[in-house]
Amino acid sequence: MLPLRVGIAGLGTVGGAVLRRLTGDAAAIAARTGRPVQVTGVAARDRAKAAPLLGEANWFDDALDLARSPDIDVFVELIGGHEGVARSAVAAAISAGKSVVTANKALLAHHGLELAAAAEAQGVALAFEAAVAGGIPVIKVLREALSGNTIDRVCGILNGTCNYILTRMEAEGLGFAECLAEAQRLGYAEADPSFDIDGFDTAHKLAILASLAFGSAPDLDAIHVEGIRSITSDDLRAADDLGYRVKLLGVAQRTDHGIETRVHPTMVAKTTALAAVHGVTNAVAVNADAVRELTLVGPGAGGDATASAVLGDIADLARGSTVLPFGRPAALLEHAPRAPMQRHEGGYYVRLSVRDRPGSIAAIATRMAAAEISFESIMQRQPVAAPRGAEPGFVPVILITHATSETTIREALDAVEAGGTIAGKPQLIRIERN
Ligand SMILES: NC(=O)c1ccc[n+]([C@@H]2O[C@H](COP(=O)([O-])OP(=O)(O)OC[C@H]3O[C@@H](n4cnc5c(N)ncnc54)[C@H](OP(=O)(O)O)[C@@H]3O)[C@@H](O)[C@H]2O)c1
Repeated sequence: MLPLRVGIAGLGTVGGAVLRRLTGDAAAIAARTGRPVQVTGVAARDRAKAAPLLGEANWFDDALDLARSPDIDVFVELIGGHEGVARSAVAAAISAGKSVVTANKALLAHHGLELAAAAEAQGVALAFEAAVAGGIPVIKVLREALSGNTIDRVCGILNGTCNYILTRMEAEGLGFAECLAEAQRLGYAEADPSFDIDGFDTAHKLAILASLAFGSAPDLDAIHVEGIRSITSDDLRAADDLGYRVKLLGVAQRTDHGIETRVHPTMVAKTTALAAVHGVTNAVAVNADAVRELTLVGPGAGGDATASAVLGDIADLARGSTVLPFGRPAALLEHAPRAPMQRHEGGYYVRLSVRDRPGSIAAIATRMAAAEISFESIMQRQPVAAPRGAEPGFVPVILITHATSETTIREALDAVEAGGTIAGKPQLIRIERN
């Protein structure tokens, strides 16, 4: 049988691992798929760096030339970025009738609909298993395996850097900056970490998951995004005492007001599967009518784990199996109504620095009651040592609210602030009940 001819653009962490596995495990892959897979072309920036990996593959200085080469059947894009050469090479490959495999979440989150429509029109595949949660095969699960379900919610720990930092802060009682520096030393965080810790990486992945779960076009702009910079070790200690852990979650769910998509630090009960996910590991939980609840846990990044997902997509193509990129025709991807964050409903953790004098807490409770917010618990904490920067004469007070709306809690906290019984800004963390 004629081999499936593959061109790989980008030979970094992921591309290098894909090339090594495709060449090193060629016989095993042919045995698993029934068809040999051969790397016929490779493109990256630095030819000298790539030379030891090249084998019999042809070198291309320009990824666009590789994308259009008559010597490849599949173009594997592992360069990254939602514009520039990654976007133009993927578009060129599709126009030239090549199937595309990519790990590029940014490209899919920004241009998924347009690229899916182009691939469909050309009758080629656009496969992106590696774009979300690295080695966890969640795309296939949402797009294919759960086709018999109506999905209500998909949520996950989608960024290993954030989960590593939060895990270390909780385990060691360390501050955010210290744990970020440690993550950078260990290579888990970039020199410029903002894409990860400010929630944007999670938002890109959530845009793709929401699209697959709800049959809507990827809509990055509709996602409410908050990162983990504001989380303190006091919050993690209080969460622990209350039976919770704090995780950066991406959540997409059906609500009465439309599809709600949000990325923010979240308190999850210690009894949930997501609470047990530590370090750089990723997890995705799905709630759907037939399977009820399903959680996938595994490595969310790294060369080999991500290469596993890329190779799975290539193996599908070798078997002749292609699926529409988002599981249904691009023309049927709705522009689903999005629920604004102000309409979000749920419980809240609120940490206030309250003036230590009689009547302060009662005054706060009165203002909250006026907004019809009720409490599951109120805890006044006496810090063993005053937290750095703490105002003298103020004590930390933790409130856990019953379900209320985002608008209501924000307005109530504005009123509390205006009342002069607290110092600084209230800390607010949303609670995910299951
Ligand atoms: N790393 C992970 O764990 C992971 C996990 C999931 C998804 N992803 C996604 O996988 C993709 C690749 O990530 P990575 O971590 O492997 O990145 P990386 O290590 O930075 O590698 C990028 C590669 O692209 C090449 N490149 C850059 N500009 C190019 C251009 N103009 N033309 C041709 N090649 C060019 C680089 O070439 P030189 O080496 O010659 O500079 C390098 O080989 C990204 O979309 C990323 O989001 C990564």
